[in-house]
Amino acid sequence: MRILVTGGAGYIGSHTCIELIEAGHEIIVADNFSNSSPESLKRVSELTGKIFPVIELDFRNRNEIEALFKQFDIQGVIHFAALKAVGESVTHSLLYYQNNLISLLNLLDVMDDYQVRNIVFSSSATVYGAEGTSPLKETDQTGAVNPYGSTKLMAERIIKDLATSSERWRAVILRYFNPVGAHESGRIGEDPNGIPNNLMPYISQVATGKRAVLSVFGSDYPTRDGTGIRDYIHVTDLATGHVKALDYMLKNKGAHAFNLGTGKGFSVLEMVAAFEKASGRKVPYRFTDRRAGDIAVCYADPTKAEKELGWKTVKTIDDMCRDTWRWQRHNPDGYQQPAEVHKTER
Ligand code: NAD
Ligand code: WQD
Repeated sequence: MRILVTGGAGYIGSHTCIELIEAGHEIIVADNFSNSSPESLKRVSELTGKIFPVIELDFRNRNEIEALFKQFDIQGVIHFAALKAVGESVTHSLLYYQNNLISLLNLLDVMDDYQVRNIVFSSSATVYGAEGTSPLKETDQTGAVNPYGSTKLMAERIIKDLATSSERWRAVILRYFNPVGAHESGRIGEDPNGIPNNLMPYISQVATGKRAVLSVFGSDYPTRDGTGIRDYIHVTDLATGHVKALDYMLKNKGAHAFNLGTGKGFSVLEMVAAFEKASGRKVPYRFTDRRAGDIAVCYADPTKAEKELGWKTVKTIDDMCRDTWRWQRHNPDGYQQPAEVHKTER
């Protein structure tokens, strides 16, 4: 299929581009590079040997999307483009609603006009809110605990309502748990701006010496070692989930949600130990207060994805740590300068 990958320069998008190309799909990437560098796409081309169109645009601008659909014969869309920092969503909630929801509404509207009614949407385990009991199932109650989570929950609702309104829509909603790791080449990976919000990039920057010490948020959770438990999933496994989702979408009408996780939980201290083993470096840490809004335990029941998508994870925690370390060690400052790349002329 000819797939528009929105936000394809970002962390999960760039890894998914590789798996899509390897599975024989054609891709067109559109991104405003607000949280990414075109360098990631240059490296996707290097790794796959394929040049593909890269369009700089902002999905908040409907006219720009319309021009894109005029220019390319798009058959389906994977919609990654969104802002994702939970803390920032609390301090800049309007920005999050505008960026994540106006973009989605514009995109769906243009897709409808151009009769491209196939979408895979990036959702998040955050839609299970704070009350759920792990393992979390797709049928469990949902709820949002911050504006970022609200944008995902509202987006799911918009997509489901659209699929209910017309049989012509096909949508797969993927609820990611905690994506970590990097491509095994060490050429692409996660490149957060400034101080990382998430555990894995923080640990890896402590291991390289870029940051002095990891703050472990809370030591008194009701878990086996008192620290929070999460379902970490290798970004390459996550990427292959999107290829399966496209196959599923072609065979199934309506909107369908799937958890993408391993089904296993690891604590913060277990992640530190696994990273120390993979890197051979010490990761000094100290316990601090709990982070506001955090929950003790969150992991997936991935049975539905296994049964219906025919997908399951293959990478281990050791793979996740090894690949993160390879990426971090070879690219201590991430992608650094944005490269001049083959941005397609409009
Ligand atoms: P990312 O920030 O690396 O990638 C998102 C990309 O979208 C970036 O390249 C950014 O420049 C682009 N973008 C943002 N707003 C845009 C706009 N208005 N117009 C055009 N481009 C825009 O994030 P990621 O980790 O790759 O996440 C991808 C998707 O997965 C997001 O929707 C995110 O909410 C979701 N998700 C991420 C995680 C995670 O922990 N990484 C977990 C669950 C869900
Ligand atoms: C993991 C564990 C922390 C950093 C977030 C979003 C979620 C989804 C994935 C997008 C927790 C602990 C962390 C640190 C720590 N994103 N921790 N010290 O919070 O599970 O999920 O990313 O959809 O919506 O909320 O991930 O990596 O921030 O935290 O001790 O410096 O590590 O308390 O137990 P989280 P995380």
